[in-house]
Amino acid sequence: MTSELQVNKTSIDSNELSNLLQSRTVPLLVFDLRPKEDFASAHIDGSVHAVCDAHAKETIMPKIPKDAKIVLVCDDGSVSGPTAEMMRSYGFNTSFLQGGIKTWNRNFVRGNTDSMIPAEELWQQLSQGRENVLIIDVREPDEFSDFRIDGSTNVPLADLFNPAIVTRLPRDKEIVTVCPHGNRSMVAVFALARNGIKAKGLYGGLAAWGQVLSSKVIRDGKEAATSPEIIQVRKVGKGCLSYIIGSKGESLVIDPVYPAEKYVELARDRGLQITKVMDTHQHADHVSAAKELARIAGAELLMSSYEQYDFDSKRLADGDRISIGQSEIRAIHTPGHTAGSLSYLLDEKYLFTGDILFADGIGRPDLRDKAQEFAVDLYDTMQRLLSLHSNIVILPAHHGEGVDAASGISTTIENARKYPILQLSEKEFVHKVTRTVLPRPMNYEKIIHLNKLAGQIGKNDISDLELGPNRCAISAS
Ligand SMILES: [Fe+2]
Repeated sequence: MTSELQVNKTSIDSNELSNLLQSRTVPLLVFDLRPKEDFASAHIDGSVHAVCDAHAKETIMPKIPKDAKIVLVCDDGSVSGPTAEMMRSYGFNTSFLQGGIKTWNRNFVRGNTDSMIPAEELWQQLSQGRENVLIIDVREPDEFSDFRIDGSTNVPLADLFNPAIVTRLPRDKEIVTVCPHGNRSMVAVFALARNGIKAKGLYGGLAAWGQVLSSKVIRDGKEAATSPEIIQVRKVGKGCLSYIIGSKGESLVIDPVYPAEKYVELARDRGLQITKVMDTHQHADHVSAAKELARIAGAELLMSSYEQYDFDSKRLADGDRISIGQSEIRAIHTPGHTAGSLSYLLDEKYLFTGDILFADGIGRPDLRDKAQEFAVDLYDTMQRLLSLHSNIVILPAHHGEGVDAASGISTTIENARKYPILQLSEKEFVHKVTRTVLPRPMNYEKIIHLNKLAGQIGKNDISDLELGPNRCAISAS
């Protein structure tokens, strides 16, 4: 019997499968097609539970390397045989275990190998400490260099079929595989299981990761016994920041992102009812949840009067005042990132700057194709904001990569005045910001268009559109 024969036969027996499992020369996937409970109670070491349905055909099969050898296992060969024929017709080198699992005359192992981890759960785990988790991003290097989960390692899927690479992976960490939608990462889990490494795939992939929200109390109104309370809500995969401002049982939300229900939950947990929802500007990097949140919360929707929206809302202009419980917000027109950007000054103490002024940079003026004109506006806006009181706390709509956001993202007017880019003359400033060429957010034109429209958007469409990093800032230096 030659290894050539083993690799190309449609049906193989227990001895041949055992030889294949011991051989490290062929990338091998052993799929057990039996019910999950049967697999969990006893399966062949190195095999993974798999369902061969239409979904798998569309999403998983295209990601399996064509040079991989696949062996299918079922109870008696009656399911795995025809499935192997079908997979061979798609060009896969597939065999089945003749006579099924009943003929396996070697050791069995127990348990499941095909686990996926929900994005929210991974986030909780990482929040408690990253040292025990290794995130392996199985996309190609060019995809990985574009954006990634902080601290993740790139091992393209095909490399996980290479024992020389797999043996170098640490065995003392929990491995989580990541890809755009959870398909390649599931194949990666299979490939690792083949090498005796138990891993989990990120369910829904980076698209799901992009939708995880975490919250941080910036100002606890209850502890201070005075209004307002401020909760910073962060879309962890994108670095978008939004805010719930509460006072006397009422709350106002600034720049909400999807999923909108999270704000209702967070407000309810603090005994607050959302009565007003507003955006600082027409966003380009994420789909605004303002109108959806206003709808589900039965709240008033307030948008900039300087921007075009095709839906009804109360329009805000420079100097307008909005009350929330015992607190008050004053709108300040701060163009430069968009023509209609508003910043909101709460009780003359907290300034919600949207994408104009960040804790580590300033907004970019080039996402509406009028960079020169917007850069001049941006300069004027900066002069206006920097002339506010030094102690005012700046709460922006984004944060950059690699910052520790766990304790909340903020700065002060006093600190912002020290940004080197804000020391420049108008001429130097305009020259610098118009010559800073940055990649644009993915799908930004489509997102801007959707943010103008009245209709609702499907949740899957939102996570796909938002896949990628936020790119609204120019560094402070
Ligand atoms: Fe923006």
